[in-house]
Amino acid sequence: MRRLVRETRLDPAQFILPLFVCPGKGVRHEISSMPGNFQMSVEEVVRECAEAKSLGIGGVILFGLPEMKDELASGAYAEDGIVQRALRAIKQEISGLLVMTDVCNCEYTSHGHCGKIVDGDVDNDETLKWLAATAVSHARAGADIVAPSDMMDGRVGAIRNALDANGFPNTPILAYAAKFASVFYGPFREAAESTPQFGDRRSYQMDPANGREAMREIELDLEEGADMIMVKPAMPYLDLIYQARQRFDVPLGAYQVSGEFSMIMAAARNGWIDCERAMMESLTSIRRAGADFVLTYFAKPAARLL
Ligand code: PBG
Repeated sequence: MRRLVRETRLDPAQFILPLFVCPGKGVRHEISSMPGNFQMSVEEVVRECAEAKSLGIGGVILFGLPEMKDELASGAYAEDGIVQRALRAIKQEISGLLVMTDVCNCEYTSHGHCGKIVDGDVDNDETLKWLAATAVSHARAGADIVAPSDMMDGRVGAIRNALDANGFPNTPILAYAAKFASVFYGPFREAAESTPQFGDRRSYQMDPANGREAMREIELDLEEGADMIMVKPAMPYLDLIYQARQRFDVPLGAYQVSGEFSMIMAAARNGWIDCERAMMESLTSIRRAGADFVLTYFAKPAARLL
C-alpha cells in the first residue's frame, strides 16, 4: 500500500554523476573526504561512464584537473584541455550517455578564483570571455550540455551568443543559477584542487541568507537564455528548490554537493547513521522539494539500490 500511494519516486535517470578527470594513465586516486569518488585519468573516466550508463544513470558531469594552472585559466578553454580530451574519448567509446561539463575557471587558475584577477579582484566582464571560449571548446569536443558554475553576471548570455556564433545553437545551457557561497563545497575543493589562495568567493557566489535574490538570479539566467536551472547546494536550500519549482516551468536541477555527501558518509563510517537510508531519504527530499534531477555523488550506489 505504501508503494501504491507514494508521491515521490526515485529513478536512476534523474541522477547526474560528477566525475573528476586528471592527467596521466591508469590514475584512480580516491578523494579522502569523498569515499568512492576518484580523480581519474581519461581512460578510467571512460570506464566509469560505461558503468554509469549500464546502471541507467541520467548522465555525468565532468570537472577537470589540468596539468598546469596559470593566471589565465588557459587549461579551461584549451582545445586539448583535460575535459576536452575526456569528452572526445567518452564520445568515441560510449554512445547514448548524456555528458555535461562544468564551465568554470577555479580549477584552472593558479589563484583558485573563478575569474580573471584585475587589481586584486575578480573582473566579471573579462571572465565572460574565458567562459564563452570554454563552453565552445566543450561543445566542439562533444559536450551535450554545458553548465556554467562560476556565478559571473551575464555569463549565460555570453555563452549562448558564443555557442550560436560557433555553430552550436542546439547545445543547451544548464545554469548553476542560484549558487551559494557555501561551506559545503569543502571536500570538492580537495577533489578539484580549487581552493582560493586568497579571499573567498563571496563577491560572486550568493549569500546563504538571501532567498528572494536567488529567485532574481534564476530569472536573469532564464532571460539570458538558460535552458535548465539549478539550485546548489541542495539540502540546506530545499525551500528555494520548492520556490523555484513553483515559479519557473523549466527543468530544475539540484546539486547535492560534496559536503552533503561527506557528512552522510562520515556519520555512516562512524556507525552513527544508516548510510543507505540516509542516502535515499536525502535524495527523496530533494526530489520532493521539486527538483527534476539531482547531481549527486550517490548516483552509483543509489542507482544500484533502485
Ligand atoms: C566550481 C564548482 C564548485 C562546485 C561545483 N562547481 C566549487 C566552488 O564553487 O567552490 C562544488 C561542488 C561540490 O561541492 O560538490 N566553481
